[in-house]
Amino acid sequence: MCGIVGYAGGKSAAGELFEGLKKLEYRGYDSAGISTLGGGSIFTIKKSGRVEGLAPRMGELEGCVGIGHTRWATHGEANDVNAHPHIYGSFSIVHNGIIENYAELKAELSAEGHVFFSHTDSEVIAHLLDYYYKGNFAEALSLACSRLKGCWAIAALCKQFQGFTVTRHGSPAILGEGEDGFFVASDMYALMGRARSYCILADGDIALVTPRGISIYDGQLQPVARNFSPLEWEEEEVGTGGCPHYMLKEIRQNARTVRATCRAFASSGCGGQCSRLKEADKIVLVGCGTAYNAALAAVRLLGGAYECPVSAHIASEARYDPPRVTQKSVCIAVSQSGETADTIMAAKILKDGGAYLIAVTNVGYSAITRFADKVVPVCAGAEVCVAATKSYIGQLACFHMLAAPCAPRVRCGALMKIADDIERVVSDGVYAANIASLCVKSRAVFFLGRGADVDVAVEGSLKLKEVSYIFSDGYPAGELKHGTLALIDESVLSVVLICDESLCEKSKTAVEQILSRKGKVAVITTLPHIYAELSARVSAAWLLPCAPSHLAHFLSATALQLIAYHAAVMAGRDPDKPRNLAKSVTVE
Ligand code: AGP
Repeated sequence: MCGIVGYAGGKSAAGELFEGLKKLEYRGYDSAGISTLGGGSIFTIKKSGRVEGLAPRMGELEGCVGIGHTRWATHGEANDVNAHPHIYGSFSIVHNGIIENYAELKAELSAEGHVFFSHTDSEVIAHLLDYYYKGNFAEALSLACSRLKGCWAIAALCKQFQGFTVTRHGSPAILGEGEDGFFVASDMYALMGRARSYCILADGDIALVTPRGISIYDGQLQPVARNFSPLEWEEEEVGTGGCPHYMLKEIRQNARTVRATCRAFASSGCGGQCSRLKEADKIVLVGCGTAYNAALAAVRLLGGAYECPVSAHIASEARYDPPRVTQKSVCIAVSQSGETADTIMAAKILKDGGAYLIAVTNVGYSAITRFADKVVPVCAGAEVCVAATKSYIGQLACFHMLAAPCAPRVRCGALMKIADDIERVVSDGVYAANIASLCVKSRAVFFLGRGADVDVAVEGSLKLKEVSYIFSDGYPAGELKHGTLALIDESVLSVVLICDESLCEKSKTAVEQILSRKGKVAVITTLPHIYAELSARVSAAWLLPCAPSHLAHFLSATALQLIAYHAAVMAGRDPDKPRNLAKSVTVE
């Protein structure tokens, strides 16, 4: 959460930082700010709202060195004062993470005469730098950090130092070397197109970044050599690719994500993990939000392939009430970003309990990959929209491959075929728009299904509520009569998924129960006979390409993602940056 950028080089820092912040805005967008250093002075602008709000004051920023921040508020409301950078004495700082002991540090420094301006936990870092600075910036940063509890990535300016410092503890910080200067960013995406090589800063390291280069020191302030790797990226990863929003661009990449994920599974030797799963006494999956919803699908897929019990756990619960594991257990941590604090904590607890840890993640350099025993890559490319779409589809592809111990090639072939069908669903945008228009006219939207359709219903509901702000819920169709039926009337839409031949008669019963209470129904099905029977009786019906029931979720999930996208646009929302949310929840 929150985004950090820093630049030191031959160009004006303001423009570089502004561009970097725009790329990082999906990490948090409550407020934004920039400090630059020129002629021994620090120039700062900051404002609540989006990065664009800084544009009118960019002319105030001088110098070729600077730091910037885009915020997702944790402590203190999203206003101009609480926006980063925070300034005190000769220092300006930006911070990602949470300083848990800020209140006691604030009290201690206040007693020393320090005056605080904001309600943030972060401001205390600028005060600690001022308190400990005796002419050595790195030393002051090291001493300041020795007083902190919590997690952080910090970039800081000092009037007496022609450059900036960076350190981290639990929050990501990536250094970059470019043609015209040196960078730091909390996310690789901000470095694409600007840095030629990158280095993930290690926890406790301190980097001094100047227009002449980067020096890195360890926790004892001894110089250390860290490797820089070439930064490879594809042109199409940056920007919306001609689409009005990232969300649409990313849904359109669902099919290629399935193809790329299958190929990577084979080429990175992930097939060996199947033997590990075969021998496991239990398989436990942990994740949050959409990643947890993908784990629900994994329970069905892996449960059908292996004999041991398989269970999915919400990471924020599992970390306080972890399932029992042994040396023979396998934990699969599912996380698009690989940085979600709750997932990391739960995975660490299960690994410490003896479990072998597999990380299913889209970000190969993320925190989770550094302590996982094996990484199964999701090859979705950069996912910028806050709502996860293609990464969910990629996670499903990973689980299909992990669930095929005997015939991986056959499974891969089936997934290549389903990728073609996903493309057909994406091209059927008119059906999605039609159902979306029913959603925006409804007081609430329920997503129902049976069997594997339930997992997709739950994810479809999350997608709709997060981007359109329409109230929705997803649950098993059989549960309707046990309570939710009380909410059904003509102002409520129920989207019923029917993609499993063996359960379709039961799902039809739910449709009848809703229609007889005058509720509106939209049916999404892969079964032509269901479409033929129901399409004339319901408000909308969408026939997806025929698919075996265990693969249908690729198609129905894509359909629900498109519906959520269109509903958000029709409701006048920004689907890429839903209010109050941010991509990658790195705080607890
Ligand atoms: C999904 O649309 C969400 N924005 C959110 O639920 C997300 O899936 C969750 O925060 C987990 O993130 P991760 O996959 O990066 O760990």
